[in-house]
Amino acid sequence: MKKISVLFVCLGNICRSPAAEAIFIKLLEKKGLTEGFIVDSAGTGSWHIGKKADSRMRIAAERRDINILSRARKITKDDFEKFDYILAMDDSNFQNIQALRDRTSPNNFAIIKKIQYFRSVFNEQEVPDPYFGGDEGFDHVLDILEDSVSGFLESIS
Ligand code: 4NP
Repeated sequence: MKKISVLFVCLGNICRSPAAEAIFIKLLEKKGLTEGFIVDSAGTGSWHIGKKADSRMRIAAERRDINILSRARKITKDDFEKFDYILAMDDSNFQNIQALRDRTSPNNFAIIKKIQYFRSVFNEQEVPDPYFGGDEGFDHVLDILEDSVSGFLESIS
């Protein structure tokens, strides 16, 4: 059976989208669905290419038994062909992803949505960027993502 492919996207690919990716991978493992999915993350910016996720995010995630293993990369035009779902963390990412798609792969119909479209517990319309804030921001991002990422899985199950 064809695998469902999901790409989570933020700005730097070192905080929010690697966390979303790791949360989704853990959820798939818990539900025995790993084999049915291809999961990845990317950034719209290129500053951190090749780097591990921000240590503050990795530590906050480890406290929840979530392992963030990804290395940062930038979204490419090929991603619009490879992925069924491209899930943005905020409005700015969403607009940048659509602009890239329109510029490079205009005939591609990958589903592009903000991850917060799938929220149920939290009201935030965007996943806030925790990079320039305090440690509590990373926990808040994880709380928000645990809600919306599981909402996404339910929506396609
Ligand atoms: P992310 O957070 O988009 O969640 O990975 C950021 C990481 C780095 C920067 C901005 C946001 N930066 O400006 O370097």
